Amino acid sequence: MRVDVVGAGIIGLTAAEELSRRGHDVVVVDPQPAGGASYAAAGMLSPAAEVWHGEEEILRLGLASLEQWPALAARLGVELRRAGTLLVGYDGGDLQQVERQVALLAGHGRHVELLGRAGVRSAEPALARVAGGALLPDEASVDPRAVCAALLDRVALREARRPDAEATVIATGVTLPEPWAAAVSGVRGEILRLRSDDSPRRTVRGWVGGEAVYLVPRGDDRVLLGATSEAHQAPPVVSAGGVLRLLAAGRALWPALDRAELVEATARDRPATADGLPLVGPTGVDRVVLAAGHYRHGVLLAPLTARLVADHLETGAVEPALDPRRFHRGGEG
Ligand code: GLY
Repeated sequence: MRVDVVGAGIIGLTAAEELSRRGHDVVVVDPQPAGGASYAAAGMLSPAAEVWHGEEEILRLGLASLEQWPALAARLGVELRRAGTLLVGYDGGDLQQVERQVALLAGHGRHVELLGRAGVRSAEPALARVAGGALLPDEASVDPRAVCAALLDRVALREARRPDAEATVIATGVTLPEPWAAAVSGVRGEILRLRSDDSPRRTVRGWVGGEAVYLVPRGDDRVLLGATSEAHQAPPVVSAGGVLRLLAAGRALWPALDRAELVEATARDRPATADGLPLVGPTGVDRVVLAAGHYRHGVLLAPLTARLVADHLETGAVEPALDPRRFHRGGEG
């Protein structure tokens, strides 16, 4: 099948790679490859740490996608860090957030043990004196920029779509064409990249006075500190207030950040949908498939999305939770 993929973020690129692997003739079209949300993303593969009340489907989908990541990372020759996630609460109120997360996971059959002060400090000795936390040992992370670079080496990038394409996959994140533009909206995320000789061993996610923050180490001396979250209409710029909040919360959890070199501050829009789940599958328009709206979960859900897109094009199969037509059912259209 001749398939055009519009959008060279991690979603479009993994879909293109999967389709090419299955023998299809694929081109990818994007004036700014890998320049959208994938450029900002921290690359956490954290289905348990990222799930929240009302968004529990992410746990099921995220676990299924996480299983596919080792094979994808191996194919691309990129590092998959499998050091887990340490959830932490800075003060008593923040620890209640951790406890709620642990209870939510227990409700889904995933037993996670709470750790006291000493427990979290032994997992990450350079952590500040926090109230407590929990360890999620199965979680992982990748470098989305490295992933996208490896994918770009493996796909054919073109300037324009082919008039004779038999199918089109729209994977343009937060900027969908009509008639789907209103199905996603931007939630700005600001993230900092730092260089430090004292990074955590694993992803550290926490709440500091109610502010959610995470630190994600790379294999070298780099560490990411993210992320703000703000629904807005304006272009996603880095704000002074966002940087201040991130640094204050990050430093409270990880005092060594004081000595870190601030390398980069990035802002991009996360593509959010009304129910927090992506749009993957048929659109109702012949031969046009969506793979967009991944909100906070694009990196995690990339291999699963790629497989769903390819399966749909080959067999018509649809994952009901992600069916883009769900927003039209029972309504006027
Ligand atoms: N998944 C991380 C974020 O959206 O900030």
